[in-house]
Parts: sequence; C-alpha cells; structure tokens
Amino acid sequence: MSRPGFAYDFPHSSLLSVGDLNPLDVSMIFERASLHFDANRRKEPRERTLDGLAVVNLFFENSTRTLASFEMAAKRLGADVINFSAGSASISKGESLADTALNLNAMNPDVMVVRHNAAGAAAYFAKVTGAAVVNGGDGAHEHPTQALLDAFTLTRHWGDIGGKRICIIGDILHSRVARSNISLLNLLNAEVRLCGPATLLPADADRWGVTVFHDLDEALEGCDAVMALRMQKERMSGGLIPSDREFAALYGLNHARLDVASPDCLVMHPGPMNRGVEIDGALADDPERAVIMEQAEAGVAIRMAILELITGRASNQRYVDDGTGDGA
Ligand code: NCD
Repeated sequence: MSRPGFAYDFPHSSLLSVGDLNPLDVSMIFERASLHFDANRRKEPRERTLDGLAVVNLFFENSTRTLASFEMAAKRLGADVINFSAGSASISKGESLADTALNLNAMNPDVMVVRHNAAGAAAYFAKVTGAAVVNGGDGAHEHPTQALLDAFTLTRHWGDIGGKRICIIGDILHSRVARSNISLLNLLNAEVRLCGPATLLPADADRWGVTVFHDLDEALEGCDAVMALRMQKERMSGGLIPSDREFAALYGLNHARLDVASPDCLVMHPGPMNRGVEIDGALADDPERAVIMEQAEAGVAIRMAILELITGRASNQRYVDDGTGDGA
C-alpha cells in the first residue's frame, strides 16, 4: 500500500449547497455517517463529540422529519439544541429576516440550521451573521442534507453510485430535493433521468446533465433506483396538473410499472408521501423494494456527520494518495 501523499481537511464550516462539495468531501461525510448509522442501529451510545456546542434549528417552514432528524443528530452527539419553528419565530411579528438572524447570532450559537420558504435564505443567514449555517431546505432551491442521505442510502446498497441509472419522478419544478439530488448524483457519476408532465418540469431541465422523459414506461427502462416526489401544491401558483387521479394514472409508481426497471430497482421517497397518488401504498411498504424508512434512518447519521465535520469535532482530515507512492 502506498503511503499518503497529502492531508485533506474537511474545508467547509457551513453546508449551503451540494455545489460546494467535491467527491472527497462527500466520501468523508459518508465514512463518518456509516459509523453513526451502524452504531445508531445497534443503539450504542455515541461519543459526545458536540459537547458544549449549541445548535439552533430555525424552521420558518413546517417540517416533521427534517427538524426531528437534526434535533436527534445534535442531541445524540451531546449538543444543546434550541428549536424555533414556524409559529414561534418572531418573524410572524413582522421582524425582518436579517434582524432575526442577527439577534439569534448574538446569542453565539455554534451552528444554525435554517429552513425557509425563500430560495437563498440559508445563504443569506450565513452572509449576514458569518455563522456556521446548514441549509435545511430553502424554497424550491436546495436541500443538501436530503440529497446526501439519499445518496448515502444508495451507497449502502450498491457500494458505488457511478454508472447507476436513477429516475426522479413527479414535481421536479418545485422540488429542492430534486435539485440537490441531481447535483449530487451527477457529481457521483450516476445517470440521472427526470420524468413528469411538462408543466412540472423546469423549462431548462435538459441543461442539468439529465435526460428528460414524459412517459413513465420509457423513463423506468433499466432503472436501478426510482425516487417519487409528491406534488408540492403549497408552491404552485396555478392549476399545473389536472387532478391527483390523473397524476396517479400517468406517473404513480406501483409494482406493475416497475416491470421494465432493473429487477433489483430500489424505491425511494423523501416524504411526506401521498399514498395512492405518486406512490402506491403496497409498493411503499414492500421491504424488498422500498428503502424509504432507511432514508429516514440515514438522515440522522448524515446530519450527525455534517454537524461534526463543519464544527471540526470529528476527525476532520484524510490522507490522500498523490499517486507518487512516496508521500509525506
Ligand atoms: C421534502 C422537503 O421538505 O423538501 N421533505 C423532506 O425534507 N423530507 C420534500 C417535500 O416536502 O415534498
């Protein structure tokens, strides 16, 4: 085995966008998350690597699993956690986002996790405060921890994602999950397909390094994984699709529709699911196919890894072989 060539430190103190990460960053996150995933499953207590740190979860938009997942991740590693959610935040009393950000930052939290319905909100928080910020979902823009937990779930099944064919189905237009997943899957050299009605696909989607389909049978051909997305009606301004029933008939996933996919095709959904619309209940509950609960499980491990790495509390360094074999 050749000796390491140079040391690489995890270079980020915030996580705002998948676009900030390189493949080495991703593999550092996955390595750490893998330890946590196994230990969480065995219910082993974790080392309190975030002891003495305060994590503030600022959720201006409703959330169940993402907020619970960040809270569990931070607490499992010994951080103090403060949650502000939609109704409780002073924003509802007319305060500007900048004032909210500055006031919370004045209390010196170590990490702020921000979810907001405006694209760019997490980056704005980071800019105004200079604090460590994790983007917990900003409008229809990005949801980087969701993409990381999705890709991590796939690597647990496949080892490498490179060359695998993954299809994201449904309301891509309003989906931050889709945008972050497309970036990350492209970075990891997967083949990405998008499928949905033209009204729910961005006009420039063909420039995203993906293949766009409107016919589900064509899109599912030979897929190694499929990801169903709900219609995010809270972000739709007009009637973009005719009805839930019609959407289900054309784009709803079920066992029969997967006949053209790879025999081991994995079925994913970020939640919340609308059973009978974008996914059939029997498929969502099929342990041979669906990895939906594993995605939720992986979410805690991924967020544990992110919190440790951005705060410099985990082993933050990796030795990279420079190819000369005579490294440092
Ligand atoms: C997603 C989100 O909030 O963007 N959910 C999640 O974080 N698991 C997807 C959605 O709301 O449909």
